[in-house]
Amino acid sequence: MLDSATFLTPAQIVAELDKYIIGQHDAKRNVAIALRNRWRRLHAPQDMQREIVPNNILMIGSTGVGKTEIARRLAAIADAPFTKVEASKFTEVGYVGRDVESMVRDLAEQAVNLVKQRRKEAVKTQAAQAVEDAILDALIPPIQGSGSSVVKPAFGFGGTTGPDEMPSSDVELNERTRERFREKLRRGELEERTIDIKVQQNSGPGIGLMGGQAGLDEASLQGLQDMLGSMMPKKTRKRKVTIAEARKILLDEEAAKLIDMDEVKDEAIRLAENAGIIFIDEIDKVASSNASKGGPDVSREGVQRDLLPIVEGSAVTTKYGVVHTDHILFIAAGAFHVSKPSDLIPELQGRFPIRVELQSLTKEDFYRILKDPKNALTKQYEALLQAEDVELTFDDAALEQLASIAFEVNSEVENIGARRLHTVMSRLLNDILFDVPDRIGANARIQVTRELVEERLQGMVRNRDLSQYIL
Ligand SMILES: Nc1ncnc2c1ncn2[C@@H]1O[C@H](COP(=O)(O)OP(=O)(O)O)[C@@H](O)[C@H]1O
Ligand SMILES: [Mg+2]
Repeated sequence: MLDSATFLTPAQIVAELDKYIIGQHDAKRNVAIALRNRWRRLHAPQDMQREIVPNNILMIGSTGVGKTEIARRLAAIADAPFTKVEASKFTEVGYVGRDVESMVRDLAEQAVNLVKQRRKEAVKTQAAQAVEDAILDALIPPIQGSGSSVVKPAFGFGGTTGPDEMPSSDVELNERTRERFREKLRRGELEERTIDIKVQQNSGPGIGLMGGQAGLDEASLQGLQDMLGSMMPKKTRKRKVTIAEARKILLDEEAAKLIDMDEVKDEAIRLAENAGIIFIDEIDKVASSNASKGGPDVSREGVQRDLLPIVEGSAVTTKYGVVHTDHILFIAAGAFHVSKPSDLIPELQGRFPIRVELQSLTKEDFYRILKDPKNALTKQYEALLQAEDVELTFDDAALEQLASIAFEVNSEVENIGARRLHTVMSRLLNDILFDVPDRIGANARIQVTRELVEERLQGMVRNRDLSQYIL
């Protein structure tokens, strides 16, 4: 969070990124600076805060080298709202100018979710209390006031009531029973018992509004739909669930009741404006190279002109309020194989002052990507099979071989960067994943050796045409 005293330093941000992304130090350094700068800005004098513009970043690098991953992880580290768009999508047929604003609306949506989540977390204890009450009500409905002696608890009670503490009334008896069950609930003794609870149903797409005809833009349309939705009576449905399940369902509902949506919206707008990150992918696809002047370039340049006000700073109406885009951090990315950054219109170039080139990944990088990241593929598959009580291990030599095969296929067929590791790996493990647990039972140990890798994959590489389809 931006206001926290423990906000990471640039070096710490890089260290965090290092846990997931191999290499690309230049890119990591620069996104770390950009992130820290936002904290710095918010701690600068008020009048200066308005002047300081974010150092938007242009990432240049072929596909699958970590561009998106870096931006995504950065947002996660900062606990910041994040959204990703493909610039090329705005050149598609049927595109209308104002659509570029949808990225800001998307960001606002993410921000609202983030803030809601944080607030729900903050009221968790309080909500848990309400949930306990609700579950108890379902188990042993309370008796309201007097004259309700017909309402008897649905369950028998232990029968431990001694003769000298006979309940003086049904109300008192009911209360005691409830307390006894409350204790049981807290001890987790009733988790498997089923109760009826009322769950709210989304009124969902019940009402459809056609924006085009009414001449409404997307934001007002959404707003209108939400308004109509909130005017409809909330539908509830009865469900029979175990108490354990009820806890989960009700906790979310009770927490939602405890948070003030107006406050959430306000905070979310501020968060989107000051901490939001928008990742614009495939920016190179809307740059017009000199070689191809004419034709489709008109629309490409048009997209750049539409993007410009958003990146430069403008006010975008969302259903949560107006979002000023002046201090949103934009990270654009592209391979720039055909066009160059200098093919972008000058105004847009000027808005992305930081250029970082990402390196093509080497065989050694692949090896490390397979092994080191917190979410490394090998770790993912180990975890998957662990769920079946099967132990999967990879020899170093096997990983080296995998890396080398992925590298080879990339250079011979098509370079898709580290994405190749996914295809190679799933090819390698396909049979094993199928055979567990039918043919390979629990407590088995599977050691992936270099020989196994060669046996399953090497033939594929030699046969280039085939590998195109298989790898
Ligand atoms: N340098 C890297 N370190 C670790 N994993 C990487 C690296 N580069 C790419 N990957 C992995 O490859 C996949 C594609 O990466 P991505 O960042 O989406 O590529 P792109 O550069 O095309 O945006 C992801 O699963 C990502 O984790
Ligand atoms: Mg990408």
